[in-house]
Amino acid sequence: MRDKSSYIKIEKIWAHKLLQVLKKEFRNKIELDRKRKVLYENNYVLFPIHHNALKNKQFKQILNKQFEWQVVLRKSVLSIQSKTRSLNNTFSTELPKKLKKLVPRSYDIIGDIAILEFEQSDALSKEKYDKLKKQIAEKLMNINKTIIKVFEKKSEVKGLYRLRDLKILSGEDNSETIHKENKCQFKLDIKKVYFSPRLVLERKRISMLDYKEGEKIIDLFAGVGPFSIQIAKHHNVVVNAFDVNPDAFYYLLENLEMNKIKGKISAYLLNVLDLLNPLNEIGLTLKSKAERIIMNLPENALDYIRVACFLMQDSGGIIHIYQFSEKPNSIKKSIQKVDLELTKNGWLIEKVINAKVVKPFSPKADLTILDLKIKKMQNLIAF
Ligand SMILES: C[S@@+](CC[C@H](N)C(=O)[O-])C[C@H]1O[C@@H](n2cnc3c(N)ncnc32)[C@H](O)[C@@H]1O
Repeated sequence: MRDKSSYIKIEKIWAHKLLQVLKKEFRNKIELDRKRKVLYENNYVLFPIHHNALKNKQFKQILNKQFEWQVVLRKSVLSIQSKTRSLNNTFSTELPKKLKKLVPRSYDIIGDIAILEFEQSDALSKEKYDKLKKQIAEKLMNINKTIIKVFEKKSEVKGLYRLRDLKILSGEDNSETIHKENKCQFKLDIKKVYFSPRLVLERKRISMLDYKEGEKIIDLFAGVGPFSIQIAKHHNVVVNAFDVNPDAFYYLLENLEMNKIKGKISAYLLNVLDLLNPLNEIGLTLKSKAERIIMNLPENALDYIRVACFLMQDSGGIIHIYQFSEKPNSIKKSIQKVDLELTKNGWLIEKVINAKVVKPFSPKADLTILDLKIKKMQNLIAF
């Protein structure tokens, strides 16, 4: 039992509420154990919990009052942050203090590839720093045997296709891999398409929502298909998935083949602005048909609100919109910006179903997600 740890097991529909209650009642005193990953089992979510919390009577009373829950033991899975810490720790004895600071504080794993980000430093010459980077990459491959290639981030994500420059540090210079996420597989080339493993929980959350039989969904910026495929894996829905990047489209088609899905997905290689062209046949077919639209293009999602309004059914529906939004009050600002854009297009927010910070994006901005029920303006005026 030594490698097992305690988890609060709760039905997934109550998971969000549980987090709200814990935050409200206990602030930071009783924390979920952030070193371990949240687990998912069928209809249940398992939150890793500190042992101390379970000794706290008030904690149990509050939970008992509001939830059906139980404590279960499961094998722990370390969160990405903890794995990162262990990379830092590995170097703690081997490097002098000023060089230890150069060991990356975070890294991403996509399939069998790790991506490291190094800060600028004049503590070492370029040659020595390059050598140290390679040493760190090799060490990482030693401590995590599933990693066989390590790349270095050489730029921010940029351009229409949202790509970044990457340089090989260790292993074969082959940037294609297969990434497993939430029981789906995604083949992709990290140099040619956008993919962020950090959105894993968001994709899990979105794929666990309630969907109507045959619900018509549009994934405006589908990439290699992580949202579309994870939703259609579990639900009998009809998805139209778009991307303008030919490589993303190629992998999206591959991934449709690789994953057994319940629903139906049609993929299109298209700039979604073209849907607004009155001569575009796909646009004409899909106009006013969508019941739900996913908009994962945080840099400039607002520029595409008019596309969402064009595609949404007249009786309204749901949009899931990701945005980079300035701190403080990033959520409020996200809502205001979307509201303004919707209004310009004759639509409005009927209900904010969910609004939260997915993760801090930079010192000045957060990545936010809004799940919004939107409605055409004249529907209200008619009342
Ligand atoms: C931030 S990525 C998100 C990809 C995917 N949803 C995911 O979670 O991995 C945005 C994607 O939108 C695509 N894109 C950007 N502008 C577009 C446009 N005007 N029409 C269609 N696709 C677009 C890019 O090629 C990129 O693959």
